[in-house]
Amino acid sequence: MNAASPARTANGGTTGRTATPRHYLMCRPTHFTVSYAINPWMDPSKPVDTALAVVQWERLRALYLELGHRVDLIPPIAGLPDMVYAANGATVFDGKVLGARFRNAERAAEGPAYLGRLEDAGFTTLHEPEQVNEGAGDFLATDRWILAGRGFRSTAEAHVEAQEFFGRPVIGLRLVDPDYYHLDTALAVLDGDEIMYYPGAFSAGSRAVLERLFPDALIATAEDASVLGLNAVSDGRHVVLPQTAARLGERLASRGFEPIGVDLSELLKGGGSVKCCTLELDR
Ligand code: ARG
Repeated sequence: MNAASPARTANGGTTGRTATPRHYLMCRPTHFTVSYAINPWMDPSKPVDTALAVVQWERLRALYLELGHRVDLIPPIAGLPDMVYAANGATVFDGKVLGARFRNAERAAEGPAYLGRLEDAGFTTLHEPEQVNEGAGDFLATDRWILAGRGFRSTAEAHVEAQEFFGRPVIGLRLVDPDYYHLDTALAVLDGDEIMYYPGAFSAGSRAVLERLFPDALIATAEDASVLGLNAVSDGRHVVLPQTAARLGERLASRGFEPIGVDLSELLKGGGSVKCCTLELDR
């Protein structure tokens, strides 16, 4: 080790990145299938292997446990095939829970189910939403801000509602590419105020806002985005992302992160990957 080498971290690594234990909520894809299409990834005529989806999801859950995180579960409900995408079920920041209100009737019943589960888990500050918002799929917290997506699912009015409820500044970002219909398909928070995103998913004005607030962001390519590489979960050191996003993984590694690729090929057929399946309960 020469003088330029970074110091060892508490994790025993040499990258200078430190993981902090997280608390997640997940939903086993017991009833997962693609029976309707509400985003361009979904094709009901393509076969889905539900048993394989469960195996792949179990591996993701086991990985989180190996990394030292806590994973709670919500019982899957028959007839709600998209319930596996737990990120959409609510938004939890500072121990406060903003319920979800889905744009599409097919997912409407998921909102109350997640809110009830979080109430049972002991959360006491819960807000039933008035405006359409699809949970942590469209609300991502950095140290200083809440980044909020709109354009396809959550609305600008929901951003106002979230700012009022959480008392944190909400930065509204307009999504313009239907392939990236939730913010978490195009942007991920890596650590603190450090993010990665795919500029092509955003309007010109929103791109300018991102450049101004995050001049050091990792800029993902169209190729990274097209395998939902941005749909990643970071604990500050490990970044769990689709294994097909190998180039993006290399770029994360060069910044000192430890990329861990996972195979969620079945759940990709519903238009989601790692982050969509993971709701962080940040108490
Ligand atoms: N089929 C689901 C939908 O279109 C996928 C949700 C993906 N979730 C996410 N957080 N991006 O609503």
